[in-house]
Amino acid sequence: MLLGVNIDHVATLRNARGGNDPDILTAVRICKDCNVASITTHLREDRRHIKDADVEAIRMMPRVRLNLEMAMTKEMQKFALKIRPHAVCIVPEKRQELTTEGGLDVAGQLKWAIEFTKPLIDKGIEVSFFIDPDVHQISAVSKTGAPFIELHTGRYSNTYGTPDEEKAFEDLKGAAVFAQNFGLKVNAGHGLNYDNVHRMHEIPNLVELNIGHSIISRAVFVGLDKAIKEMKSLCEVVRGK
Ligand code: PXP
Repeated sequence: MLLGVNIDHVATLRNARGGNDPDILTAVRICKDCNVASITTHLREDRRHIKDADVEAIRMMPRVRLNLEMAMTKEMQKFALKIRPHAVCIVPEKRQELTTEGGLDVAGQLKWAIEFTKPLIDKGIEVSFFIDPDVHQISAVSKTGAPFIELHTGRYSNTYGTPDEEKAFEDLKGAAVFAQNFGLKVNAGHGLNYDNVHRMHEIPNLVELNIGHSIISRAVFVGLDKAIKEMKSLCEVVRGK
């Protein structure tokens, strides 16, 4: 599996003091030197971490694949069409949430999802929808023309090591297989860390994992380069083999 590194929390730390430390583009360069598949970043409506100028600067960096997470709003569609990231992941957004708490309800706004997706695809941007492992949402995405889904792994991550883990895991695995039968490619992310990521290898044909908080947290102690390399090797190698 490929690793996309979400660098939002480098910006969270920077914004705590309002200056330029730690520098976002230095973080991106380190990710790039570690050969990560994508730099993922979520431009939120409230711009609480990453700012427009950060995304624009990342987009200008050579040999960096930008995966822009964004809400399904006119404002974000316009921004994406302007800067043309390599990929966008369409996510739900609530102002008060600490992080993206659940998947997007694509089935409940299918018409808008189709209208939203088309110009992005026409510009050659790879579109994915961040959804819960739910068959209704998957079949809705299959009607939008988007080639990818990203499965929300939050319930699996939160129940890891508890009696509820197995059900959460089986739901994820079943959803991935169901989506692949529709011809969709499947990414996954949210709450994945150095302990729980290994079970993603049990899900067939996952393309990419997008991981942020655990990597940036570990980077505080071991450095970003080492934190990424450790996670990358967990993504690439099946534990115990
Ligand atoms: N994927 C998506 C779509 C997300 O919104 C997030 C969080 O911004 C992540 C992955 C990464 O989650 P975490 O920071 O918990 O690894």
